[in-house]
Amino acid sequence: MCGIIGVCQNNSKIKIGKIVFDALSRLEYRGYDSVGIATITENGILLEKDAGKIGDVGKKLKFEQIEGNTAIGHSRWATHGPPSQKNSHPHSSMSDRVVIVHNGIIENYLELRERYTGKGYVFKSQTDTEIIPHFLEEELKNGKNMEQAILQLTSEIKGTYALVITHTDEPDKIYALRKDNPLVLGISNDGNYCASDIPAFLPYTKEVIIMKDQELAILEPHRYTIKKLPSLTVIDRKPHTVTWTPEAAQKGGFPHYMLKEIHEQQKVLSFQLATQNDIFGKIAEMVNDAEKVILVAAGTAYYASLNAYHTFPEYGKKVTIPAIAAEWDTVKPLVDDNTLILAVSQSGETLDTMKAIKDARERNAKVASIVNVTGSSLTTISDEVAYIHAGPEIGVAATKTYSAQSYAVWRVAHALANINGTLDKNEMKLFSRTINEVPQIVQKTVTAAEAQARDLAGWFKNKHSAFYLGRGVSHITALEGALKMKEISYIHAEAYPAGESKHGPIALIQPDYPVVFSIPDDRHRNKMIGSVQEMKARGATTIGIVDEYDNEMKSILDHAFEIPTGYGKFLTPITYNIPQQLLAYYTSVSVGANPDMPRNLAKSVTVE
Ligand code: M6R
Repeated sequence: MCGIIGVCQNNSKIKIGKIVFDALSRLEYRGYDSVGIATITENGILLEKDAGKIGDVGKKLKFEQIEGNTAIGHSRWATHGPPSQKNSHPHSSMSDRVVIVHNGIIENYLELRERYTGKGYVFKSQTDTEIIPHFLEEELKNGKNMEQAILQLTSEIKGTYALVITHTDEPDKIYALRKDNPLVLGISNDGNYCASDIPAFLPYTKEVIIMKDQELAILEPHRYTIKKLPSLTVIDRKPHTVTWTPEAAQKGGFPHYMLKEIHEQQKVLSFQLATQNDIFGKIAEMVNDAEKVILVAAGTAYYASLNAYHTFPEYGKKVTIPAIAAEWDTVKPLVDDNTLILAVSQSGETLDTMKAIKDARERNAKVASIVNVTGSSLTTISDEVAYIHAGPEIGVAATKTYSAQSYAVWRVAHALANINGTLDKNEMKLFSRTINEVPQIVQKTVTAAEAQARDLAGWFKNKHSAFYLGRGVSHITALEGALKMKEISYIHAEAYPAGESKHGPIALIQPDYPVVFSIPDDRHRNKMIGSVQEMKARGATTIGIVDEYDNEMKSILDHAFEIPTGYGKFLTPITYNIPQQLLAYYTSVSVGANPDMPRNLAKSVTVE
């Protein structure tokens, strides 16, 4: 949720405050209600922080002027205590000897707070985090060194954390450790970095080490050491080079990351198509070998996983059970060594998903995962990983990663159909053609739909509520369309299987109520005519996403977005979603919201 950065540099060409400020700007998608920086100076700790957007606070507090060799920074997504100067990170210990930033939640902070208040420590904030600098200071006072103090801390705190610590006794060192929250290291000749995500330090180095749970990194300007906790044995881990470019984490001339990421989809899908083949076949074999498949994911990634729910039973004759990661408890009694878990996650760090997968492993299930971030936690506990290769996605609302995740799932389904011979020759040919041509269909649709979406957004922005309807696999399109609309434009939007809407939701329809339909030319198309008519009869304004040659449907609908014809039932949750992404984006802009940073949301959800 929060973004953290630590820098130990030996490069006086760039002021450390600028490095931290830029890094926090690139991490702002992880949390954006408060920001702060701390450096170690000759006179002790210099701490600057406040509630507000990174750009505003950074300018006000002149972050870019701050000098030094060691600094830590934080962009906050509030959990304990509202956004305020006092609750912003970094947090320092009472005598200003230790200063830290934290991403995660300390569950037993109240108990510890009471203990340290009893010892005379004064708490300045309402956060769970502030217990940590006081705890460490007390251990240092008692004669321990920082490593021993950290060991004691990790034996007593409960919860999740990525922590970056520095202190005045060792002004050139940063200590960074993690449990259940992301932490990566950047290694270079000019200095070493730790952060929640790679884009933070991408302009300075592409040499990356992904930290694992219960590991401690000690960074100095010229070297780094990684140790296992609690044994403190040294781990020999070399960095790997990432292919992401610094430009990929910039807006590239678009007004928002989200729009840039919508436009990048063809490139992303083409890259996935060109670079990966075997892995989808391998995962399809795992599906075949299993008695049942359980899908585990959250949010948009969950919707992408539903493509398997709609295809594996047909193409693999496989029982496929969808599970929202946060609801894992309900399905876990079904998990055994004949179960395959298919986990989908952009970040590979979502805590709900990680917890479910860890539990599934303990129950001896096999795990295949579909992930964007190389080396992320999920990849380290999976038997097979299919990377979606979408590059960094900065917009909080998932767009290109939804398409790339869905694409990966469809490619497993394609391999399944191939292995099992569940489709006739012509259908299989069309399926293969669609896989190959989807990147182009996506691009054509972005181009064709953009102006229309912008115009319609001018009408949509005044609505308070909307329905998104689809049948069969198009229910996924409806779910994703409604989520995108509500999360970035704050207009209430609800998705239903079209046939279900008459069992209750239709009561809400009044004149001019928006209903968005996804209507590909598949086996559900004819029934959708009835669904559209039902809504029209009650005065709804009907917006359909339809096959470009479906004149009958276009004549019934009030507004129609057209998708290139001839691809039938395959991969439609990707192509039919494109106009919905654009409609949500332009509605968000029309209501004056920032689509990249929707209120209350964070890109990577690392709390339960
Ligand atoms: O990193 P993940 O794919 O595991 O994240 C899961 C969800 O939090 C995420 O898809 C979220 O729903 C999207 N940002 C919504 O657009």
